[in-house]
Amino acid sequence: MLMKKCLQNMEIRNKKVILRVDYNVPMIGGKIIDDTKMKLTLDTIYYLLSENCKIILLSHLGKVRSNEDKKKYSLEPIANHLKTLLNKEDIYFSKDNYGSEVIARVAKMLPQEILVLENTRFMDVPNRLESTSDPQLSEFWASLGDVYVNDAFGTAHRKHASNYGIAKYIPSCIGFLMQKELGMLNRLVLHPIHPFTVIMGGAKMDDKMPLIEALLPQCDHLLCAGAIANTCLKALGFSVGESLASDNLEVIKKVQSLLLKYKNKFILPLDAIVGSTYDQNYIQYKLIDKITDNDMILDIGTKTLQKFSSAILESETIFLNGTVGVYENSKFANGSKELLSLLKKSDAIVVVGGADASSSVNNLGYQNVFTYVSSGGGATLEYIATHHLVALEPIKEESEPVETLDM
Ligand code: 3PG
Repeated sequence: MLMKKCLQNMEIRNKKVILRVDYNVPMIGGKIIDDTKMKLTLDTIYYLLSENCKIILLSHLGKVRSNEDKKKYSLEPIANHLKTLLNKEDIYFSKDNYGSEVIARVAKMLPQEILVLENTRFMDVPNRLESTSDPQLSEFWASLGDVYVNDAFGTAHRKHASNYGIAKYIPSCIGFLMQKELGMLNRLVLHPIHPFTVIMGGAKMDDKMPLIEALLPQCDHLLCAGAIANTCLKALGFSVGESLASDNLEVIKKVQSLLLKYKNKFILPLDAIVGSTYDQNYIQYKLIDKITDNDMILDIGTKTLQKFSSAILESETIFLNGTVGVYENSKFANGSKELLSLLKKSDAIVVVGGADASSSVNNLGYQNVFTYVSSGGGATLEYIATHHLVALEPIKEESEPVETLDM
């Protein structure tokens, strides 16, 4: 496939490399609770170290809108954790990410040192310089290095200074994680082996319309749960009570026309486990045409699972996005558990994409079970829906097809 300029084809020996990663990892009270995204960038870092580079590492963390947010979102604990992951002492943290002190610090770097600059989004206070891809900020960061490597797949749907702007000013390429993500999603999801089944759930409907529209022409079955199924049911005139569903008339009309056009592809729930906003102890099994005004659909039922199972067992490729129930609450976790167990039993290629689906796979004990679990949330969905990631625009294409790093 044609690819953006790849790290392995770049002249980087002995260079100062600006490496943009996505270390936006979940944290509680300053402690990292899942470092998967960090581990996935280690191959790129090892390669740069083996090429005797100085690495200036940039990442965002959280949404930083005020000075108060800065207290929560320093990258310092992440820089410390990187020392443990790499078992390397000469990794330093700079509390500044802009200005003369940074220039002076970079000038003193030794080969194979890593300097982690403070959260790029600290430059969003007060003027959103990072998030608006401010040219002066982009040029400043670019001036710190000889080469820019973008390995921040999870944030590649954002047009920010640190992941888009810098590449306009110095020779740039994509790292190994970015190559692997693009290669896997291209091969497995954009060019799937049929029968191809998409399973979509979760709480968001309106945001996922472009993804649904992109996948429907490609897939053989679309198994719906969560707010997507509820919106479909609503569009067909069923009551969904208090369940999450779109209220946007445009979306409902669009769903009606998709249901008509692709009626043989949609597989909707036949039954549900419902709860209620009024009574935390209320839980009932209901057929889908028996949902009443106070019911809230929180999981799929056994008849739905059976119906999903037939499609899953005849599939060659399956893409899972979102969750079929509120699995964080054990009363509504059965559907998610059974579904993952079915996917494990199937012989299909199973690709998991989006933050919630990936977390459910990890939290329910299915790590390293499926063919590919993408590290992106919004970026994965954006890439599948549009085949494009804005952050990669300024990076040149390779002139020859590249062997993708996808295993
Ligand atoms: C993610 O965690 O999905 C990425 O790091 C992007 O984060 P953002 O939604 O805050 O831009």
